[in-house]
Amino acid sequence: MNFKEIDIPVLLYLSDKKYITGERLSKYLGISRVAVWKQIQKLKKLGYHIAADSNKGYFIISRPDILLPAEVQSNLHTRYIGKQIYYYDWVNSTNSVAKNFIKDKEMNLQEGTVVIANEQSAGRGRLGRTWHSPHGGVWVSIVLFPDLEPAYISKITLMTAVVLIQSLKSLFDIPVLIKWPNDIIIEEKKLCGILTEMSAESDRINYVVVGIGVNANIAREQFSEEIRSRSASLQEKIGKQISKTSLVRLMLENFEKQYDLLKRKQFVTILKEWKLNAHTLGKKITVESAGQKIFGEAVDITTEGALVIKTEDGKKVHILSGTVQ
Ligand code: BTN
Repeated sequence: MNFKEIDIPVLLYLSDKKYITGERLSKYLGISRVAVWKQIQKLKKLGYHIAADSNKGYFIISRPDILLPAEVQSNLHTRYIGKQIYYYDWVNSTNSVAKNFIKDKEMNLQEGTVVIANEQSAGRGRLGRTWHSPHGGVWVSIVLFPDLEPAYISKITLMTAVVLIQSLKSLFDIPVLIKWPNDIIIEEKKLCGILTEMSAESDRINYVVVGIGVNANIAREQFSEEIRSRSASLQEKIGKQISKTSLVRLMLENFEKQYDLLKRKQFVTILKEWKLNAHTLGKKITVESAGQKIFGEAVDITTEGALVIKTEDGKKVHILSGTVQ
């Protein structure tokens, strides 16, 4: 099944704590009792457990581990990020879907549009790598049309890492850190990845798609053997399943705050927070960049988002893109 923009308005009124009658729901929504019942059936198909009592009405016993737009958007305090969400049960890659949407001029996609998938069959990582995206993860892309120069792309990526750190730290008590440029790691294992893609002219950005992958409710066996020893999940670290909905809601709210700062040219504030949570700085590292290996101490990040490495001969090398080994 592949759902697009599932619209189930009864969700706005159903509660986890007390019954609401079918009559009330039909009054609130201005639809018949049969139409209410049909929406309840739709929810059940999606994995919601709903108690139904002929006198007392309905209430939610448990929710499935999926990210329905109606759930994410209820109580979402943003002005434009996540106001339009496209949800898919499965998709090749949310970044690819978002880029196709942008190219389809008839869709007139707005800044802040979000694409979410429950699973990705061809999730993409940095440097042409594949990104393993089973059920249980948070696979999200955010569409931006910033009025900024193309050089801002690396700042958007660093900013997104800060957004992830802020969101994870405020929900969970876990020691997450940023590995330059954009990996979120926990105890040396990868928890989240960011893939920022852009189309630009020489002096201006046409669009940016920020893809975020969080290994949320993923069990160890779900990781492919190849990445198992290097990957971590929230479920595993916290010891129980997390609410993906709360995490995504907070991520979108924090994203809007930081992106507003960036657009107001206040990257320095974001960078400060990046540095406070950096795993890389102060360490002796090897970076692979443009086919070259550079060894030295990671001493700083510039306001352009470049990693500064002090090599053994005392030279300072600035690297804008690469992989820390
Ligand atoms: C990396 O660390 O290599 C980046 C991984 C980014 C994965 C996310 S999941 C949502 C979005 N869709 C994709 O195909 N990739 C990004």
